Amino acid sequence: MSHRTFEDVKDVILSAHKNTEAGDKVSFYNTWAENYDQDVGLLDYRAPSLAANCLSPCFHGDRVTAVILDVACGTGLVAAQLKRMGFRHFVGVDGSKGMLELANKTGLYQDLKQCMLGDEPLPVQAGQFDVVVIVGALSDGQVPVRVIRELCQATKPGGYVCMTTRGNHDNLEYKAALEHELELMEGAGLWGHVAITEVEDWEKAAAEPEKGYIPGVVYVYRKSSQ
Ligand SMILES: C[S@@+](CC[C@H](N)C(=O)[O-])C[C@H]1O[C@@H](n2cnc3c(N)ncnc32)[C@H](O)[C@@H]1O
Repeated sequence: MSHRTFEDVKDVILSAHKNTEAGDKVSFYNTWAENYDQDVGLLDYRAPSLAANCLSPCFHGDRVTAVILDVACGTGLVAAQLKRMGFRHFVGVDGSKGMLELANKTGLYQDLKQCMLGDEPLPVQAGQFDVVVIVGALSDGQVPVRVIRELCQATKPGGYVCMTTRGNHDNLEYKAALEHELELMEGAGLWGHVAITEVEDWEKAAAEPEKGYIPGVVYVYRKSSQ
């Protein structure tokens, strides 16, 4: 592994911003996969631990038998955090072959599936998972907002869906669309919100003119029981 600096990470993030189509973004992740864990460490990317910390106190079931669907699993950082909290069974989905290969090497996942979310249906059966998580992938040019309906469908009645998004300037339109959809689904009785946690120091700002840390949000919803 090469020695990387925060300047290298800024260059990577800037190049990612040029990709506004999900297919381009997934190709970008194929090339970033090898340096991803090291680079997000330099970025102080806290989303996986923040999501796990928000989900954990909401979940009152048996963690040893619970099955978690980790959507846009990347290299497996979210499953690693949830394992620390007692969860044991993980299925991962991601569009990037390179990221999935690294997730496979962690040995954390019982199954890993490649899928281009938004273009292809989520490749799992409805109502199968105790928890569905999606961290770091609900933003412009990545996973379209409409996919959250598929996440809800994949969850068992009474199960949990944990989602994150960024609150920095270039993601505000996406965040508003996401929150509108979350509320529409709540109004339709599909689920109810359990915890919505706004975090100021989500990750270091990597693109001008932002400075310091950018904000983010963790949403935990519980699917209706019927
Ligand atoms: C920032 S990484 C987050 C990975 C992991 N969840 C984490 O927090 O470290 C975003 C991941 O989403 C995946 N992704 C982005 N858009 C996607 C799409 N439309 N379909 C499938 N995967 C997608 C990328 O391949 C990448 O692995």
